[in-house]
Amino acid sequence: MSYAKIIGSGGYLPPRVVSNDELAAELATRQIETSDTWITERTGIRQRHIAEPGVTTSQLATEAARRALDDAGVNAEELDLIILATSTPDYIFPSTACLVQAKLGNKGAAAFDVQAVCSGFVYALATADAFIRAGRAKTALVIGAEVFSGILDWNDRSTCVLFGDGAGAVVLRAAEEPGILDAQLNADGSQMKILHAAGNVVGGQVTGDPFLRMDGQAVFKMAVTSLANSAQSVCERAGVALDEIDWFVPHQANVRIINFLGRKLGLAEEKVVVTVDKHANTSAASVPLALDAARRDGRIQPGQLVLMQGVGGGFTWGSVLARM
Ligand code: UT7
Repeated sequence: MSYAKIIGSGGYLPPRVVSNDELAAELATRQIETSDTWITERTGIRQRHIAEPGVTTSQLATEAARRALDDAGVNAEELDLIILATSTPDYIFPSTACLVQAKLGNKGAAAFDVQAVCSGFVYALATADAFIRAGRAKTALVIGAEVFSGILDWNDRSTCVLFGDGAGAVVLRAAEEPGILDAQLNADGSQMKILHAAGNVVGGQVTGDPFLRMDGQAVFKMAVTSLANSAQSVCERAGVALDEIDWFVPHQANVRIINFLGRKLGLAEEKVVVTVDKHANTSAASVPLALDAARRDGRIQPGQLVLMQGVGGGFTWGSVLARM
């Protein structure tokens, strides 16, 4: 029996940083009122990275992937599986995973996208883990990457201040020892309306509404309940007590959600990785970006136990518990 072990990580953020004050000033030119105070107090977000027009998800993803491969000491040709989580793919098809594969110079690996919005990375990681455990892959690249700025309605202050662009990636390798201990994925499609971008292409034209729409309070409530239950059940299945967790790397949407969860699960504040202040909500990229930040600054160490959690549109949510 093989386990999947995280042997490298990488992150990439587009260089343009937009502070809350800059964004508020920009929105004010269109009579849309917001402020650094509102955004910071309600969400913890202080700034976000925004891709220049024309920059695509596969470009951000490829940069993050290169950094993860470097960190792991793995050549792109060694990969036999590439899974990319995104809701903002470059094209209708082929998958963004195939575009990244070509940019990295890999031929032959299985490559596909996963669509689970802000839970996407956790879904992709759990899928790669299952491939490796089943002996169907040995070296996998798992990426979360988004250019969410392209699907935001910049006239809707209740959503446009919350999101940013970026990409994060990990390399997994089959190992005798864990590795990923367990994962749990869930969805409730009946709640699709609380967070969606319900546009479509028909006859070459966009039909419906292609912008992200969210009932923030409904999402907030679903997020805290579902993630608390998910954490408890994944730990129970893995035979791990919550107080054994060294690092909690949750989806970075709102520091109030993160703090609430940390308290509910009894995790000390110092164990919780927070990047939402600097990155805002980068959807599928948020968990791997946060994981990479905490590995690179030396907080997350080999042998430590990390709980990663995603939550978002679908409605979807999930947890992955990993020994680093
Ligand atoms: O990634 C997927 C997961 N997503 C999430 O987890 C997001 C979950 N939800 C949230 O994080 C929060 O619900 C929000 C940050 C989206 C909103 O915070 P809230 O405390 O739930 O605020 P609210 O929606 O109740 O709005 C409060 C007030 C409203 O004004 P009134 O009706 O009280 O007069 C809004 O119109 O704040 C107003 N408002 C704003 N004011 C200034 C909404 N957006 C803004 C804004 N600037 N950007």
